[in-house]
Amino acid sequence: MPSGSTTPDSEAEFVVVANRLPVDLEKLPDGTERWKRSPGGLVTALEPMLRSREGAWVGWPGLADADVAPLVEDGLHLYPVRLSAEEVENYYEGFSNGTLWPLYHDVVAPPAFHRHWWQAYVRVNQRFAQVVADVAAEGATVWVQDYQLQLMPAALRKLRPDLRIGFFLHIPFPPTELFMQLPWRTRIVEGLLGADLVGFHTPGGARNFRWLATRIAGATAGHGRNEVVVGGRTVKLGAFPISIDSAALDKLSRTPEVLERAKEIRSDLGDPERVILGVDRLDYTKGIDVRLRAFEELLVEGRVSADDTVMVQLATPSRERVEHYQKMRNDIEQSVGRINGEYARVGHPAVHYLHQSLPRDELAAFFVAADVMLVTPLRDGMNLVAKEYVACRHDEGGALVLSEFAGAAYELKDALLVNPHDTDGVKNALYAALKLAPEEGRRRMRALRRQVLGHDVDRWARSFLDALGLPPAGSTS
Ligand code: ADP
Ligand code: G6P
Repeated sequence: MPSGSTTPDSEAEFVVVANRLPVDLEKLPDGTERWKRSPGGLVTALEPMLRSREGAWVGWPGLADADVAPLVEDGLHLYPVRLSAEEVENYYEGFSNGTLWPLYHDVVAPPAFHRHWWQAYVRVNQRFAQVVADVAAEGATVWVQDYQLQLMPAALRKLRPDLRIGFFLHIPFPPTELFMQLPWRTRIVEGLLGADLVGFHTPGGARNFRWLATRIAGATAGHGRNEVVVGGRTVKLGAFPISIDSAALDKLSRTPEVLERAKEIRSDLGDPERVILGVDRLDYTKGIDVRLRAFEELLVEGRVSADDTVMVQLATPSRERVEHYQKMRNDIEQSVGRINGEYARVGHPAVHYLHQSLPRDELAAFFVAADVMLVTPLRDGMNLVAKEYVACRHDEGGALVLSEFAGAAYELKDALLVNPHDTDGVKNALYAALKLAPEEGRRRMRALRRQVLGHDVDRWARSFLDALGLPPAGSTS
């Protein structure tokens, strides 16, 4: 983990801005502080990209009321934005994760609409815009990330019309009927239209946004389907499916340490015939309950035996003060307890559940060790875990069961695709994956690997930044 720090140079030519910095400040019980990697796919994807471009990253250090001066950590130029405890509650836990997150994920949990949450969201977006306005060099490129900062492009343009501004949404953009529930829908669309380019994972997201821009925010159709005109400016829209640093993960998964650790994991699990794996932030959109139910039913029906098949669920703690997350955690832990109560033997749980965040090499070892990877979100912008599993399977082994409602399903067509709302379907796909003929498994994995290794995060970033008009990294023009 990064530790040293010096003050970054003055003005930045390329600025990434996200709610979180790539590292989180942690206060230890003895009062000391340390930085650790931030959770989630956004950081996984953007960190390698920013490193290669020597840009600046503006974001919240993850603790309320933390006054942190700009710093260089592990080669990254970081500009912390302070959030008060009240703002963490109303802007982050409230509007971002109690309103927008469920609304944009098909309302799989009911979103709450509160005016004081919205007011905090407006205030914090304005503050982020001010910090970026102070940091960015004349004519710099600023790339704003994700749903927490949708008002920022317009706020920033007002302060700094000289900047080139891109915005990328890492979560699904919802169907227009759902988006229209939002009392502040026009303000959000206007906020995004402050960018020169607004990017989504899928063409459907871009289409939905285009419809809204022309219906409720006064934009008119541009020349092509991929642009709108507003206030005399052209705003480009597009689909840019995000990815991972596939080559780095492929390389990591081939190291003797990771291979050795994968063997050790299987042996610690009791050398079962089959290992089923789930890896997620503990989030109600991820369908962890769906896969536990499928596994439990296969055990109940006797199609699978806990003597030779185990499931491992690794779950990073997430948004623990938000009510829906607390309830989901209880439900999942109850299910794990129930399944183990019925099917475990002493020293041999049927489900191994770790509510922990693991280091990258340890995670790679779990991917190598797993025969079946279960990725069953009810809705997910992309889902990088699915791609990480594929990148780690240089042996062309393993089987991926993937929800149709993850953005990754558009690209990973050779996975065993499932509708996570259909328990029988998930159950049958899990069973088929456990029994997959080796040749068929290898054929599928080869095709998946061609896709993941050929479309890495660098390619994603380049295609977005090309569309935004930024010269390639390292270019002097
Ligand atoms: P999201 O961004 O919604 O969390 P993604 O699947 O796109 O979902 O990205 C999750 C990222 O977090 C991946 O890089 C994954 O490896 C990482 N991750 C998830 N669970 C864990 C865990 N238990 N330990 C370490 N990293 C994890
Ligand atoms: C998803 C979101 C990110 C977010 C991450 C972790 O990947 O798209 O914006 O940072 O989850 O969530 P958290 O609330 O802990 O930042």
